[in-house]
Amino acid sequence: MRTATVMIPTGDPYPAYRALREQHPVYWDGDLEAFLVTSYAEASTVLRGPGWSSDPNRNPALAARFDRAELGNQALRTTLLTMDPPDHTRLRRLLAPPFTPRAIDALHPRITAVVKAALADFGTAGEADVIADIGYPIPLAVMCELLDVDIEGAQLLRTETPKLVGILEFDPDEEAVLAAEEATASLALHLLPILGDRRVRPGEDLASQLLRLGDGSDEPGGGALDGDALGHDALGHDALGLDEVLATCILLLTAGHETTANLIGNGVLTLMEHPDQLHLLQGDPALVEPAIEEILRFECPAKIVGRTNLTDRQLGGQTIRAGQRVLVLLGAANRDPGQFRDPERFDITRDPAPHLAFGGGPHFCLGAALSRAEAQETLRQLLPLLTEWRLAPQAPAWRVSDTFRALEKLHLVSPAG
Ligand code: HEM
Repeated sequence: MRTATVMIPTGDPYPAYRALREQHPVYWDGDLEAFLVTSYAEASTVLRGPGWSSDPNRNPALAARFDRAELGNQALRTTLLTMDPPDHTRLRRLLAPPFTPRAIDALHPRITAVVKAALADFGTAGEADVIADIGYPIPLAVMCELLDVDIEGAQLLRTETPKLVGILEFDPDEEAVLAAEEATASLALHLLPILGDRRVRPGEDLASQLLRLGDGSDEPGGGALDGDALGHDALGHDALGLDEVLATCILLLTAGHETTANLIGNGVLTLMEHPDQLHLLQGDPALVEPAIEEILRFECPAKIVGRTNLTDRQLGGQTIRAGQRVLVLLGAANRDPGQFRDPERFDITRDPAPHLAFGGGPHFCLGAALSRAEAQETLRQLLPLLTEWRLAPQAPAWRVSDTFRALEKLHLVSPAG
């Protein structure tokens, strides 16, 4: 992992974020060779404005890093996260339907059942680790439900998915890259025959839905998967190739697992550290939705998103040249007093103001509605249990990561235990 010129402590990054935001809201970090953006307005400009690229091929240093990582094959490099318009627009439009708030609403009974099952044994031994016991299992079980994978597949997902996220670090070490590559390969080996089968015998699962988008017809095994390289079928409609369906399944596992686990972990910790807010919530469970939004703002699970600048410009008093890298520090922007009143206060009743935890603009998180639904349901079912539980005496350990605001473990103890 490369070290930044500015020291941003893992445990409590917020004083460093504040100092940067107040003194240099757009700061050139010579060691990272990137501008760090910490103010809300400038972060918004980068995320929402034109001329900022997500494609690593438009930045030589990044492209070299991706080449090193290889990521299995070309197909797995072309995911939403690493595409620019017009390809991004086309793929995003195709993938959007299963992730709309309305589509996620329809999943609610299944999410409720997954959370109930995960909490069935929670803390029966008088102690619990929120991260290992519910943080990771819940988003993964939901994804297994969505993809309708068998027990063997679920087991594989459980062991391999955590290895994928290493590749999302700013400058992953060789070991992490290798682990991510191997995990990608074994997931691809397992998922490909399933996708082949779903193509012939489609079900109602997400993989079948994605394949149906690719088919361009309602006929099982319909033909648009043989479309041209830009994904247009024989009639010129947009279509999704088999390689894109596979890459998308793996992207969903990568992007949706760690982040949602962090949201659940960060949420429980923040509430336990702010007992007044926890009591407020326990007294009025209707506050679960705003509470999750405030947790997303206050302890934002994804720390940075990166872009390459495509045109010489001014931002926050700095000249940024075409080809230079910009890192938006979402957790810093989410505590900008220019956007949020009293931003260092955790307040589940604050007037809603749009935070940047899910990014913004064209790359706004595709899984936002899904992760919100998972986190809200988890909190809803966990709330009555939290009355008896306390944080374990040892301080919660934050994971050293450029990309994720993530707890290693979060131990709770029950006085009865
Ligand atoms: C608390 C949970 C989550 C957080 C904090 C989060 C955060 C983010 C952020 C910040 C981005 C923008 C990246 C960028 O601008 O470059 C993003 C994009 C994305 N997220 Fe999430 N995410 C979460 C959950 C999920 C879930 C559950 C899924 C899917 C199952 C998912 C799938 C995606 C995808 C596919 C993209 C790429 C969208 C695009 O480039 O158009 N995320 N997420």
